[in-house]
Formats: sequence, structure tokens, C-alpha cells
Amino acid sequence: MFKIAVLISGNGSNLEAIINACKNNIINGSVDIVISNNPDAYGIQRAKNHSLNYKIIDNKKFETREDFDRALVEELKYSNPDLIVLAGFMRILTPVVIEAFKNKIINIHPSLLPKYPGLDTHNSVIKNGDLKHGVTIHFVNEVLDGGQIIAQGELSVNPNETEKQLKRRIHSIEHILLPKIVSKFADGSIDVNNIIYEVF
Ligand code: GAR
Repeated sequence: MFKIAVLISGNGSNLEAIINACKNNIINGSVDIVISNNPDAYGIQRAKNHSLNYKIIDNKKFETREDFDRALVEELKYSNPDLIVLAGFMRILTPVVIEAFKNKIINIHPSLLPKYPGLDTHNSVIKNGDLKHGVTIHFVNEVLDGGQIIAQGELSVNPNETEKQLKRRIHSIEHILLPKIVSKFADGSIDVNNIIYEVF
């Protein structure tokens, strides 16, 4: 069985989308563990609701990024997942994690990378009057939001659209695209030389 580890920091709606896709056999695999760096993340409740194995590794309890990452690697090695999905995991990973799970970590980011790496993407799109916005799923490397792009989903920004409205529409794209890409990993059908591009 294809084992997935999902790392979260907050709401966990993308986690929920992955869980549901596993349950509905859209993903031929299962979520083996959910790890949160934030003890208050609502995503932990979602993991509990689905009786999933979860672990809180509170980053505030570690002195350095590397110390936190070592604890993360230990937990991940115990699960030994085929794929690690960063689904709203708001931490930059050091080579401690990247090297331990080379080409096995993917991230979903709410922008059309390479545009707007980092935080506050929806606001930047509105402030700059962009006509397009979207989401990117990419491999994770040492560069923030800089790994090889696997898939992107794009939408047109509506006139006078608020940040809240945009965020909601981005989320609905994420909930379609992320399970779709994870399912391709589970089937072994990801071709990294062929970016999947969709317009919603
Ligand atoms: C998602 O929009 C995801 O793209 C973003 O956080 C949100 C998490 O939502 N990730 C990042 O900004 C990472 N740089 P969720 O907790 O409801 O899945």
C-alpha cells in the first residue's frame, strides 16, 4: 500500500481532501501519519475524526531548525512513507529533512510560482492588479518554494475580488489538484518532465 505522510500547520483542508480521495479510491494509497508543528492546528482534529495516526512536533520546543528537523526525520522514518506532502506546512525545511527524503517531498503553494514565493500571496496578487492567480505543486528542495514544478492550476482574478474570495477559490483548486497529483505518485505515473497545467 502506498503510504502518505501529510505535514500541516493549520486548518488542514488539503489534508481532508487527500484523506477523502484515499477513502474514495481516487488515490490508491492511505495517509499513514499526519504531523503538525502547531499543537493548535485544526488539521489535528481532522486526523482524529478519521482515526488517523497523528503526531505533534511543536517547533517552539526546539532550539534550532535542525533540531526540529531531526525530530521530524525520526518520526517520518518510523512511518517510512512513499510520499511526504506539505499541505499548509508553514516551515522551511533544512537539508536534514530534504537529504533524508530526496525527491519524496512535495509542497502545495498558493501562487503561480516562480511568482510570489513565501507568504501573503493572495494579497500580493490583488495589490499588483494581477489578472491571473493560481496554485503550484512542486518538489521540495533547499530553496524556499523553489523545487521543480509538477503541476499548476490557474484562475482569472475577478474585478474587485477580495483576498477572502480569492483565497476561497484557490482552496477549491487545491482540493482538486493536490489529490490528483498524489494519485499520480501512487500510480507511479508522474512524469517530472511534463508539467500538468490546468485552468479552472
Ligand atoms: C493552502 O492554501 C496552501 O497552499 C498554503 O496554505 C494553505 C493551507 O490550507 N501553503 C502555503 O502557503 C505554503 N507556503 P489548509 O491548511 O486548509 O490545507
